Amino acid sequence: VVPVLTIDGPSGSGKGTISRNVALHLGWHYLDSGALYRATGLAAAWESIDLSDEDAVADCARRASIRFQPMPLTESGADGGEPRVIVNGVDATDDLRTETAGGAASAIAALPAVRAALVDLQKSFRRLPGLVADGRDMGTVIFPDASPKVFLTASADERARRRYKQLKDKGVSVTLNGLLGEILARDERDANRAVAPLVPAADAVVIDTTGLGIEAVVRRVLDLLPA
Ligand code: CDP
Repeated sequence: VVPVLTIDGPSGSGKGTISRNVALHLGWHYLDSGALYRATGLAAAWESIDLSDEDAVADCARRASIRFQPMPLTESGADGGEPRVIVNGVDATDDLRTETAGGAASAIAALPAVRAALVDLQKSFRRLPGLVADGRDMGTVIFPDASPKVFLTASADERARRRYKQLKDKGVSVTLNGLLGEILARDERDANRAVAPLVPAADAVVIDTTGLGIEAVVRRVLDLLPA
């Protein structure tokens, strides 16, 4: 069996950075499931599909070509190694980072047919020597047999500050207050939706990352693996 380590949590909890660093340490593959929802939302927008049209968006998800182009993984820099995301042949990485793309992703992620359309693609990332899967439902729905399972949290203020810094560093113009509002709205929708709501798996280890640096969290996650 190919081992899977799942890292779920809300926006700005540090999932992406922690997951990439853990994957780097282990030499495992990395799945950014949020990027699949973001890419699907973007592909649907490109086709002028109404994002509430469940069947049309699900069909778009099945047709879309979403590829990750791994960047050289470095341990320096909080976001070293963030892969480029190629949607239908176009490098959409920068568009996908915006909170507009996050909001669209969250909207279509609430549609059961869209989630179902992305299941096989997500499972296909499970290859030797192992997978670090980052998302909202990795431990609960997609890889229920994963071990260990991690759920990262942090205070809303800290999550907004981290996301603000991340976006500013990438040249995206945002305000901290606007971002806090958008993150809270997205969290609420993700937590309260009928399918795959954002909750820790029963067997997940919950780590509150408020005030913790990247390295400290990476170490805690790695410590959960059998020696
Ligand atoms: O980086 P951030 O946590 O802000 O967002 P993301 O991981 O890229 O996910 C964007 C949106 O996709 C989330 O708000 C969720 O609504 C949705 N998503 C999901 O439903 N299931 C996943 N496994 C991953 C993301």
